[in-house]
Amino acid sequence: MDTLDPKAMVRDGYDRASHEYRGDDFDFARSGYEHWLRRLTTRLAPGARVLDLGCGNGIPVARELAGAFQVTGVDLSSVNIERARSLVPAATFVCADMTQVEFPQASFDAVAAFYSIINVPLDEQPALFARMHEWLVPGGWMLAVVGRDPWTGIEQDWRDVPGLGMYYSHADAATYKRWIAEAGFVLAESGIEPRQGNPGYAVLIAQRGN
Ligand SMILES: C[S@@+](CC[C@H](N)C(=O)[O-])C[C@H]1O[C@@H](n2cnc3c(N)ncnc32)[C@H](O)[C@@H]1O
Repeated sequence: MDTLDPKAMVRDGYDRASHEYRGDDFDFARSGYEHWLRRLTTRLAPGARVLDLGCGNGIPVARELAGAFQVTGVDLSSVNIERARSLVPAATFVCADMTQVEFPQASFDAVAAFYSIINVPLDEQPALFARMHEWLVPGGWMLAVVGRDPWTGIEQDWRDVPGLGMYYSHADAATYKRWIAEAGFVLAESGIEPRQGNPGYAVLIAQRGN
């Protein structure tokens, strides 16, 4: 019997369906990304160093940030990283697992993780928040879009690609709030996404204490 390797499934899923997930362009202005990214960027000084964790093809988050900030994107999928390098040449991109990648302590002013921690196995997520905390300067900001209700499983025929699976792992919003507090963050703001309709995700904006 095959043993599930969640990271391999996520990497393969995005390598094979990168374009099905996200085109080279995106209507940012009318999206939830615009609302939440602005909630983060209004807290940052021009030129701030921002880490886009699970950056995908760089559209829309890295591209929007790169106009005013120094952006580093990390993603597991080499196809996404290749696309990001060409779509957002002003940013720096690293192909790596966010639970393993190394950055010096206090090397970023902000970390944004839009819909990417949702693919990381739950038992690795608390340590990931601790790493995000370490990478930030004191007073640095974190934004995470994470699951809202507990669920770990596989979506079959993901993005309508026959036979392709995508792995997800979500805790509930209260657990995320506890984990980020245990990592040393102070919650500044929380919300849901989509903000109308059927909210499937929790959004947390938190600050590293001193
Ligand atoms: C749903 S997409 C979101 C992409 C982008 N943040 C956005 O909102 O458009 C999830 C992304 O996270 C990446 N990802 C998932 N697990 C990862 C991990 N352990 N390390 C690095 N990237 C990961 C995937 O490759 C994928 O590009």
